Amino acid sequence: MIEEIFMTQQTALIVGASRGLGLALAEEWLGRGWHVVATMRGDAPGLDDLHARFSDRLEIEHVDIRDASSVRDLGARLQGRRLDVLFVNAGIARSNDKTPVDAAEQDFVDMMLTNALSPVRTVEMLASLVRENGVIAIMTSELGSIADSTGFWPLYSSSKAALNMLMKGYAAHHPGDPRALLLVAPGWVRTEMGGDEATLSIEESIPHVVDMVEANRGKPGLRYLDRFNRELPW
Ligand SMILES: NC(=O)c1ccc[n+]([C@@H]2O[C@H](COP(=O)([O-])OP(=O)(O)OC[C@H]3O[C@@H](n4cnc5c(N)ncnc54)[C@H](OP(=O)(O)O)[C@@H]3O)[C@@H](O)[C@H]2O)c1
Repeated sequence: MIEEIFMTQQTALIVGASRGLGLALAEEWLGRGWHVVATMRGDAPGLDDLHARFSDRLEIEHVDIRDASSVRDLGARLQGRRLDVLFVNAGIARSNDKTPVDAAEQDFVDMMLTNALSPVRTVEMLASLVRENGVIAIMTSELGSIADSTGFWPLYSSSKAALNMLMKGYAAHHPGDPRALLLVAPGWVRTEMGGDEATLSIEESIPHVVDMVEANRGKPGLRYLDRFNRELPW
């Protein structure tokens, strides 16, 4: 019986789950009966609370996606595991209202490395753990759409556009990959990053995101989607 549960239980790895949307993704999939591997870097009281509620199905791991060796080590620790979902959620926002003339250069460099290069590198390093009918998802943003841009948060938006482009490259370099490759735009959500002015609560975003990811299982190809599974213009 226990073996049967283990065989049928689905597993999600959420990279960057200490707080905000990543923590909510972990909680949502735990609530749906999944096994979750959730990663953090430093302190994560929210994840500790979740572990107290779901100790049998929540594993906590440590990874900093900027540090390639820490991602490689995580992959080694998870060797032999089969993931139904790999979701790279980690991201940062800096110099939000600045433009190239007044932004701190390092903020732009940090966003390009954390939001664009590192998530796709993480996917490259961990993709082999994901089942053939599974989903590889990265949290991008509506702001990553060049076509729809209003100029809001231009540096952050550029890093998400770069993320989208790098995933285009990943998809092109892995033709025939049977897994769904999703660039997920969650809406503007009230978190530390989204701020108090954001239009959506976490509850108005994340359950839809999880429904959308599950709906894409077994559907190969790269798609840029909002939380309602609608295609966004690149
Ligand atoms: N909130 C929104 O309105 C919104 C809209 C569109 C897209 N997004 C995207 O959604 C994702 C989550 O955003 P959020 O609103 O939940 O932001 P948040 O509350 O600031 O949380 C960001 C998460 O990313 C993690 N992280 C940052 N850098 C990392 C690194 N180098 N390695 C591993 N983890 C790292 C943080 O971990 P620590 O606790 O260790 O810092 C934290 O768990 C981001 O990719 C963001 O760009 C957010």
